[in-house]
Amino acid sequence: MRFDIITIFPSLFDSYLKESLLFKACKSGSIRVKIHDLRDYADDHHKTVDDAPFGGGGGMVMKVEPIYKAVSKIKIKSKKTKVILFTPRGKKFSQKKATDFTKYEQIIMICGRYEGVDERVAKYIADEEVSIGSYVLMGGELPAMVVLETVTRLVPGVVGKKSFLEERKRGESFIEYPQYTRPENFVINNKKRKVPEVLLSGNHKKIEEWKNKKGKIIK
Ligand code: 6GU
Repeated sequence: MRFDIITIFPSLFDSYLKESLLFKACKSGSIRVKIHDLRDYADDHHKTVDDAPFGGGGGMVMKVEPIYKAVSKIKIKSKKTKVILFTPRGKKFSQKKATDFTKYEQIIMICGRYEGVDERVAKYIADEEVSIGSYVLMGGELPAMVVLETVTRLVPGVVGKKSFLEERKRGESFIEYPQYTRPENFVINNKKRKVPEVLLSGNHKKIEEWKNKKGKIIK
């Protein structure tokens, strides 16, 4: 899978991509991530990527031309591609959506800024507008990282969990249950806090029941 992220803040992604499983996924070739500086697609001398809105009102609006140029250049015609525009108005991102996104060979993510993006991007360039929750961020960079990480851990081989294939198959939901590790007893604020007995019982059927009962379904 290949991810192409279009942003006016490319360096925000540097440290994030250098760490952990995401770095490993890139190194092993499970995914490919490219960060594109939108300013590289601005054709004027000042590298302008935004302008005042028609009809007045405050703030600046991201221009359509540089985004169109970037997407046209980046899009691999022969591949199954999805173009996402991040905006707080978009459809809510979810585990199900992440599973849907794994069907694509290339995901292009356009990071909007909060003041707005020329509506022609949403209408004629992006396939889908996506939001990550009911709150307003300053731009689409964090949402891009959220989608990148959520989709990447569904790519086979990235996460070494046994239950993983099952999870991917089910897609829309999976069970996240409380977990414990050593020590069995630990004192917190003068109280002994123990690991639930059932987990130490060795009774696999009981343990499975407990996990299903305590687990929260992530949709
Ligand atoms: Cl995708 N963008 C912005 N600016 N704010 C958001 C968001 C996206 N999703 C939740 N809040």
